[in-house]
Amino acid sequence: MADDPALQLRPATPEEWPEFLQAMAGAFGETPSGPYLDTPPPVAELDRSLGLWDGDRLVATSGIYSRSLTVPGAVVPCAGITWVTVAPTHRRRGVLTSIMRRQLTEMHEQEREPVAALWAAEYPIYGRFGYAPATFRGGLSGRTERLRLRPDIDLGSGRVDVVPLETYRPAAAALYETVRRFVPGNLARDEHWWGRLLQDVPEHRNGATARRFLLHTEPDGTVTGYAAYRVKAGWTDGGEPDSTLTVEEVRALSTPAYASLWKVLLSVDLVRGLRAPLASADDPLRQLVTDGRALNSRPVDALWVRLVDVDRALAARRYPAPIDLVIEVRDEFCPWNAGRWRLSGHPAGGYCGRTDRDPDLALGTEELSAAYLGGTSLATLQAAGRVTEVSPGAVTLASTAFSWPVTPWCPEEF
Ligand SMILES: CC(C)(COP(=O)(O)OP(=O)(O)OC[C@H]1O[C@@H](n2cnc3c(N)ncnc32)[C@H](O)[C@@H]1OP(=O)(O)O)[C@@H](O)C(=O)NCCC(=O)NCCS
Repeated sequence: MADDPALQLRPATPEEWPEFLQAMAGAFGETPSGPYLDTPPPVAELDRSLGLWDGDRLVATSGIYSRSLTVPGAVVPCAGITWVTVAPTHRRRGVLTSIMRRQLTEMHEQEREPVAALWAAEYPIYGRFGYAPATFRGGLSGRTERLRLRPDIDLGSGRVDVVPLETYRPAAAALYETVRRFVPGNLARDEHWWGRLLQDVPEHRNGATARRFLLHTEPDGTVTGYAAYRVKAGWTDGGEPDSTLTVEEVRALSTPAYASLWKVLLSVDLVRGLRAPLASADDPLRQLVTDGRALNSRPVDALWVRLVDVDRALAARRYPAPIDLVIEVRDEFCPWNAGRWRLSGHPAGGYCGRTDRDPDLALGTEELSAAYLGGTSLATLQAAGRVTEVSPGAVTLASTAFSWPVTPWCPEEF
């Protein structure tokens, strides 16, 4: 690709947005709809986009969102990779590889984000570039007639109300700003991101209602929880109601608030089916209901992570148990990461720097990225032959230190 003078890889201009959007939508088999057909949406950062022009034709697209990602014990700048497409006429010629290399090299050379993250359309695409699944969505589902809250759950003295979007948005945004800092995999949301998240294009509803909103409020008026959901009406052949409730997000500051929101969600009239596709597989809901088996789960990879700079990324997170060892990293795609690193970490912080000492552990960046948020155990990766233990006990030590009490979870696709 690099040798072809007709090909030009560069950021798109705002005037090129309609063409850019059409190219992206075409590759995903979609027809664009919504308010941002002619001008880029407010979350777009076209100066961080890359398009590939073959003469005057746009044949590949990509973008980066400048985001903040919660990692164990800290929040780090994170490049949210998006808009990745290559036209069918230009597939398998290394176009994606060139885009990935350019993005990661620029982040490294400009000392921007130490971590990049994305949602993968297909599992096999991104591992070769060092990305790995770091959070999983639970794909929760069940029948509401079998889902009852345990009678011993304290529901507190607050109340749940159905509220309009204008009331919901500022209250949910303020609450999210508090809770997202404790959950690895959560991303900060500014006004533009809330705007994107709450956009409700009728063509995307798939037959369901517009989004509906709940707030949980304490007797003193403090908002301590929120939920967003939709209902899709349905009836059985026998005339029984069989609507489906799709829960988009439930967040709360306390267990009574969380349980109270779910109590209302599980009792919406005429609903029999429940779906919470983006909820964590480890959602506390399973512990709140009388019959945990009635809550089906099909965990699927969600947010993929790539350590752009191993040292900056590992020094940024915290470690629940002390660790001090040498890891030998393989990274053919980003060679600046390859070699031996001394990692020293504890609950208050971490250090990572070059060393000549013998390694205790050898692994690739893909494996390190999988373990980074604490959602995939290094011991599991070792069992799969993807981590090599050099000093006895190093995997146990590192697995413990890389774990985190809060299961990583990303409730938001981008
Ligand atoms: C995924 C996509 C961007 C790949 O673009 P591309 O320019 O053909 O990729 P490259 O030529 O750089 O491929 C690099 C390697 O990855 C492999 N690869 C790329 N996409 C793959 C896929 N979907 N499944 C399996 N392997 C894939 C290629 O075979 C190639 O491997 P090789 O070097 O061993 O031959 C392109 O197929 C596409 O636009 N798909 C539809 C939209 C989409 O899924 N985008 C991703 C959004 S997250």
